[in-house]
Amino acid sequence: MTSANESAAFWERHYAAMDADWGTRPNVVLTALLADLAPTPGTALDLGCGHGGDALWLAARGWDVTAVDVSRTALDRVAAGAAAAGVTERVHPERHDLAETFPAGAYDLVTATYFHTPVTISRDGVLRRAARAVAPGGLLVVIEHASTAPWSWQAGQDVEYPAPADVIASLRLDDSWHVVRGDAPRRTATGPGGRTATVTDNVIAVRRTG
Ligand SMILES: C[S@@+](CC[C@H](N)C(=O)[O-])C[C@H]1O[C@@H](n2cnc3c(N)ncnc32)[C@H](O)[C@@H]1O
Repeated sequence: MTSANESAAFWERHYAAMDADWGTRPNVVLTALLADLAPTPGTALDLGCGHGGDALWLAARGWDVTAVDVSRTALDRVAAGAAAAGVTERVHPERHDLAETFPAGAYDLVTATYFHTPVTISRDGVLRRAARAVAPGGLLVVIEHASTAPWSWQAGQDVEYPAPADVIASLRLDDSWHVVRGDAPRRTATGPGGRTATVTDNVIAVRRTG
């Protein structure tokens, strides 16, 4: 089985079993960060968009968003959410296995929120490709787990998370980039069924200056 088949199979099973409303709200860390760092809408690329909480929130604020996922089910739900919110013209769902293909173009904002998968892919390679998709002056934002929530599919596994500085180093940015954020804040997260837990995220924001 290729990684493309494995990724599609895993994530299709995941979304088929998931309530279509879950994941339709934006990431609170992302929304706070963008209020400071990217207040003016432009073009955005959301990598591993899931049910589209971030993509739909961005589109509602005037961003033109390409929403990418390997799961067709997730993308159909993003399209339905965009239609319900009246933002269809600003949301462009695209199916890619990002380990194999990547959307064309350059974007003012590229986001990857919780782009984690149990399938073995070169995640660093995908994030390096994501940096290359940022337009001059634009922003790459990576928000990722730095702890395991009790409701995570990784719960019970011994997972080692990189420090923010390691994630930034793995991007191999040249001096045309400015690191705006690279920290690991804690917050209270709400999971399925309204369950809450304290979690830590790595929050990386880098701006392409040239
Ligand atoms: C943990 S979920 C995060 C979803 C969403 N960004 C969020 O924060 O709720 C990871 C997402 O990445 C997608 N994904 C995983 N591997 C992928 C791949 N190789 N190519 C494209 N999308 C992938 C999954 O389908 C899933 O929607």
